[in-house]
Amino acid sequence: MAASSPAIINGGEGSPPVFVLKSVSKSYSARSIQALQNVDLTLPRGSFSSVIGASGCGKSTLLKIMAGLTSPSSGSVKLVGKPVLGPRRDIGMMFQQATLFPWLTTLDNILLPIKIRDGKKASDARKPSALALLDLVGLKGFDGVYPSELSGGMAQRAAMCRMLIAEPDVLLLDEPFSALDEISRDFMNMELQRICLERQATTFLVTHSIPEAVILSDVVYVMSARPGRFIEAVEIDLPRPRTLEMMSEPKFGTYTNHIRSLLDKGAFI
Ligand SMILES: Nc1ncnc2c1ncn2[C@@H]1O[C@H](COP(=O)(O)OP(=O)(O)O)[C@@H](O)[C@H]1O
Ligand SMILES: [Mg+2]
Repeated sequence: MAASSPAIINGGEGSPPVFVLKSVSKSYSARSIQALQNVDLTLPRGSFSSVIGASGCGKSTLLKIMAGLTSPSSGSVKLVGKPVLGPRRDIGMMFQQATLFPWLTTLDNILLPIKIRDGKKASDARKPSALALLDLVGLKGFDGVYPSELSGGMAQRAAMCRMLIAEPDVLLLDEPFSALDEISRDFMNMELQRICLERQATTFLVTHSIPEAVILSDVVYVMSARPGRFIEAVEIDLPRPRTLEMMSEPKFGTYTNHIRSLLDKGAFI
């Protein structure tokens, strides 16, 4: 789709890219599976991009490679000009499951990354920040509660605070809200946008949902069936901040229909 210029959150042209992936391929030798083939990706600073594709096409593999949790079979991954060779502390990650520790309170779960990284004293000092984050995501007063007492949506919000406490500039999100009901998911997506705008974070989201990808992203990368390749980078030219009302605009429908048609074709490529 010919879109004039992508509505990058900030930065965009002129500022150096945060991530640059060149010809990234990945084979899992144990099962002779090629998960990714020649993926090229550049993420400008402050941009919000997403990748959409069928289950099993290699999206999580791509995210894990970007996070340094697994290495590519070939190709290069650079984060702010330096090769990604292992797990990075400056990247925030979020997954489909909140994975909170059941024996820790919400507050202690959120502070855990700081405690592991910098010790108890440092984590105690960050308590006010953790409480402010809880407030930000609508969980004020839930700091002393254990995960078993939180709903799925509340647990994901706590997981979001845990990701944000370390103030990462780069967020890698793997279907973070896909287990939530549609109403909570819409709310969380708008919260995510607000936080990304506020923090000027560079964000890369894996999603199954076409509307979610379109409403949040500057660019939606459409991935083929395995081995995952990008079929098209669809630039979403809608103003920021995005609102849920934009989903009823004709332009929004044009984008979602276009991506759906690419995915229908891509499933058989
Ligand atoms: N650690 C692994 N070892 C072997 N095969 C894997 C591993 N991780 C993923 N795969 C395979 O690679 C393919 C892509 O998986 P994944 O990246 O999880 O896809 P997606 O996130 O798009 O659903 C799948 O066929 C999956 O079975
Ligand atoms: Mg996955």
